[in-house]
Amino acid sequence: MNLEQKVNLGGADIYLEALGVESQLELVGDIREIARAAPLYSPETRFGKKMSVRLTSAGNCGWMSDRRGYRYEPKHPRGTDWPPIPQSLLDIWNAIAPDARQPDCALINFYGEGARMGLHQDNDEADYSQPVVSVSLGDDGLFRIGGTERGGKTVSHWLRSGEVLVLGGEARLAYHGVDRVKHGTSTLLPDGGRINITMRVVT
Ligand code: SIN
Ligand code: MN
Repeated sequence: MNLEQKVNLGGADIYLEALGVESQLELVGDIREIARAAPLYSPETRFGKKMSVRLTSAGNCGWMSDRRGYRYEPKHPRGTDWPPIPQSLLDIWNAIAPDARQPDCALINFYGEGARMGLHQDNDEADYSQPVVSVSLGDDGLFRIGGTERGGKTVSHWLRSGEVLVLGGEARLAYHGVDRVKHGTSTLLPDGGRINITMRVVT
């Protein structure tokens, strides 16, 4: 892993060219396996609107959303356990956050044509001293980050395949989202699209 090219975006660290193509392909293989065991689904937001991303999780718990709200669940909606977080992802976590606790959820988001993610905080976890580590694969995604209050100033960056972003410290509770994905910017995924994996310590 290459941790040499670190830039700051609104308090978040972004490691550019962190993962080479071989590592990215290995991750895609691991994620396909997770999605086979725990199929992608499109949940509703708590306002009853269907999310445009499809998602699944690995780890002790998975992130879930419906009209009852946002939360982590010990089982996939099908009633099965979530697959374990693959070593390829744990290696990234340990390289980026060697002093942190081990993550208990890797949330996997798949952005197909037209998918986006509105500005939100990652605040369904118990311990905000622990970072969220985010890995981007496939097509470029326009990531936007602001402060800890909704409606403040934001800055943007096109997250490219192989980049790793960390929401930690002051930026742990920053509002963030993905405005759009530029299809055809990467050849990593044969059918295009963007995968984002966020690892979190939940408890
Ligand atoms: C997220 O906030 O869960 C996803 C961020 C991203 O797709 O880069
Ligand atoms: Mn998030």
